[in-house]
Amino acid sequence: MPKSVSEEVNEQFEKAVDDHYNAIIKGEIQEGIEEGTASGVLVQEPLNAPPPPRPAGAPPVKIHCEDISKTFIQKGNQAVPVIRDITLDVYENEFLVVLGPGQSGKSTLLKIIAGLEIPDKGYVTLDGEPITGPGPDRGIVFQSYMLFAWKNVRDNVELGLKLRGVPAEERHAIADHYIKMVGLEGFEKHYPHQLSGGMKQRVGIARAYANSPKVMLLDEPFGQLDAQTRMYMQVETARIWEKERRTVLFVTNNIDEALFLGDRIVLMEGKLPGTLKTEYAVNLPRPREHTSMELLELREEIISNTELVL
Ligand SMILES: Nc1ncnc2c1ncn2[C@@H]1O[C@H](COP(=O)(O)OP(=O)(O)OP(=O)(O)O)[C@@H](O)[C@H]1O
Ligand SMILES: [Mg+2]
Repeated sequence: MPKSVSEEVNEQFEKAVDDHYNAIIKGEIQEGIEEGTASGVLVQEPLNAPPPPRPAGAPPVKIHCEDISKTFIQKGNQAVPVIRDITLDVYENEFLVVLGPGQSGKSTLLKIIAGLEIPDKGYVTLDGEPITGPGPDRGIVFQSYMLFAWKNVRDNVELGLKLRGVPAEERHAIADHYIKMVGLEGFEKHYPHQLSGGMKQRVGIARAYANSPKVMLLDEPFGQLDAQTRMYMQVETARIWEKERRTVLFVTNNIDEALFLGDRIVLMEGKLPGTLKTEYAVNLPRPREHTSMELLELREEIISNTELVL
């Protein structure tokens, strides 16, 4: 039977692609095949592709999320797309807040950066290196305290250092520094059940800092605290960040917390799958006042640009 026109075109197309690849393999052609060339083959960027060039003087990109998406398969084999097409840069030593309502995929985004979840699409780099799993270069503080109930404050803070084989004397000195930094001096021998919620969360922060991570990832760390303690912890967090600058990615559903802490706020869309909607720069000096005119004006602007309840 004679070939149809489309079969012939297909064959020619496949032959052209084969010839092109063979020529590259033999070294006859140096360049790769780009999207939109005659072959029409899309060449994926290598996983560790450097981030695009930024203006001179701009801080370097610390974390780069490239077009990441994640779908979970839930009960009954139901596929739930949770985040979609998220591209995000976090710059060195900035305090970036991801603000979004409940169930918008915030924790999933953070877990992917932490290396605890793998994206279905896209990739994340830290200092240009692809993230393939969890590592001590990322200090994580979750909403639940995640402290070891049978270890006292000092042992909880030293845990990561101990696991990495840091000698006892050095470990103690590092722990002392961070226990003092979070204001828990004198509580070193206390066990988690003897501490308030705010104090437990400060142990978590000290523990994350003690490992000298390149970046801090905080997932609604003050979500379980009463309003007053929460505000106090925000003041403390800003103070600690000013004292020891780190790249911070802080997730919250609380607009006032975001305004008080962030250099930049990225807003997540309310419905699943979560996408990034808008971004706001918060160019206001610190320490900030929750009720300052400038913060309230920016608050108004964010709220008027979104239908989300934040
Ligand atoms: N491991 C998982 N397996 C299945 N579904 C998951 C998993 N992790 C998250 N999900 C689903 O993804 C959705 C978004 O969850 P995620 O925790 O990322 O949102 P969130 O914005 O952090 O929510 P919250 O404000 O309640 O903390 C939820 O519907 C959740 O059930
Ligand atoms: Mg969450």
